[in-house]
Amino acid sequence: MSEVTKVGIVVDGRSIEVVEGASLVDVLRLAGIDVPTLCWTRDVDPPLGTCRVCAVRVDGREVAACTLAVRAGMQVECAAPDLAELQQGVVELLFAEGNHFCPACEKSGDCELQTMGYRMGMTHSRFPYRFESYSLDYRGQRLMLERNRCIHCKRCTDLFTDDEGHRVFCFLGKGSQTQVVMDLEREAKLSEHKCDEAVALCPVGAILRKGRGFDRPIGTRASDTPERMDR
Ligand code: FES
Repeated sequence: MSEVTKVGIVVDGRSIEVVEGASLVDVLRLAGIDVPTLCWTRDVDPPLGTCRVCAVRVDGREVAACTLAVRAGMQVECAAPDLAELQQGVVELLFAEGNHFCPACEKSGDCELQTMGYRMGMTHSRFPYRFESYSLDYRGQRLMLERNRCIHCKRCTDLFTDDEGHRVFCFLGKGSQTQVVMDLEREAKLSEHKCDEAVALCPVGAILRKGRGFDRPIGTRASDTPERMDR
């Protein structure tokens, strides 16, 4: 059994003892600090680090908390108002970049981006909406891609596999033209359970089940309850 080494770090002026090498996000949440995350999912190593919503300040520099492992002597700042502003700015940019019409989205109520916006008290994006139109892909047997909502978090491309361990999703293109695509042969062989897993892994409404709409009544959806949406 590997030995656990405890080290001291300082979080918002408070000294705490933590397990060396643990994820800073996990450590902060254990300490009762609610760091927002979108692309991060527990126990994924290395973390995706794509969304940057989890911005904190470590030793004077803004960093994505989910990408850092704790080390002795870290000085971590989470409570500064400018950090909350920075985190909300990232969420607003995501809303402005895609087409997120929440009332009409099948994932509404179970969308992590939407929940994040609610939690931050966001009413609109301060950034100009781009209103780009990205293509939809209906060719799957049971899954479809609504690319207007994709935030390029890489959860589906990097974390999702079929029952044989093959990846099903990948990105094509560069920069703002990057789009998620799926291997149609592998998609056709996915089990029902795996299809549901792909939909649940997507933090927004970009991967959907065909033929299914608003099947979770209001009151039972993730954002209808006060619990966090931790993964
Ligand atoms: Fe840390 Fe996305 S949650 S970069």
